[in-house]
Amino acid sequence: MTAPTVALDPQRVLIAMPGCDTATMRLAIPLRAELGHAAVTRFPDGESYVRLYTPVHGAEAAIVCTLDRPDEKLLPLLWLAIAARQGGARRVGLIAPYLPYMRQDVIFNAGEIRAAEHFAALLNPVFDWLVTVDPHLHRISHLSEVYRVPTVAVEAAPAIAEWIQTHVQAPFLIGPDEESRQWVEQVAGMCGAPWAALTKTRHSAWHVEVAELPNIPPRCVPVLVDDIISTGRTMLAAAGLLQRAGKPQPVCVGVHAVFAADAYSQLCAASAEVVTCDTIPHPSNQIALTGPLVDAISRMFDLPLPLSKQMLV
Ligand code: R5P
Repeated sequence: MTAPTVALDPQRVLIAMPGCDTATMRLAIPLRAELGHAAVTRFPDGESYVRLYTPVHGAEAAIVCTLDRPDEKLLPLLWLAIAARQGGARRVGLIAPYLPYMRQDVIFNAGEIRAAEHFAALLNPVFDWLVTVDPHLHRISHLSEVYRVPTVAVEAAPAIAEWIQTHVQAPFLIGPDEESRQWVEQVAGMCGAPWAALTKTRHSAWHVEVAELPNIPPRCVPVLVDDIISTGRTMLAAAGLLQRAGKPQPVCVGVHAVFAADAYSQLCAASAEVVTCDTIPHPSNQIALTGPLVDAISRMFDLPLPLSKQMLV
């Protein structure tokens, strides 16, 4: 007996940037999309080379590229999107589970730039839509303030809440700073758990202080929840505050496993467990977001074509 085959939708092509093959395959199956084949390499002089082998003429194409370490990925990503446009794709979308530069959302000191806006300005001309997961929306309150294309920001909160409910008994959720309040409050509401947000002072990338630990009932397990773990110093400072108050080591839950330098090993040593969503491949990934990503990408594939494009098809 032969296994039933799932018909592919010839109109949908997902192309993986290097490092995103597994994530792309996971998305392609439920989307019934063809896996595109592309070469993304460098010339000996360091210039980027791309070649798109899969025909995309008339297709809904999307490139999967999580954008941690963005500077080295950006140019080949733009080249690949241009190759798909040149190949006649009906639309070219970007699936970037981690969207970078969103924390540079204001000019703090004279001479700096608001990089979130300028990073978006590089992507806007070559992509027709963007799907991401929990972008760091703080002083920029919606992606449409900087992205000029349709966007969907998938929320990790339901999956995080489910993980906490099945893995932690009597959780007490803590957001390490004011910015994390929005995620912690949402996740806590879904878990029916008590929560609080600390106050943070960041002196530099690697020097962070937090204060105002709430009263945590004796049998509760502290669960730190934040969107990005980069240097890990925010979570480490919160874990230190808990330790000084004689509380148990926390479970640390982050959406995006950026983990610069020694962040992961330091955090593992200071906590009961470190868990992240699978937006950036990392050993700490335990929370899969394939389902909500597939829903968001389907919506983008099914968007009606804008009039300007309809005239070209
Ligand atoms: C910023 O406010 C974010 O929500 C995170 O708290 C921050 O990005 C964590 O950064 P780090 O791990 O470098 O302390």
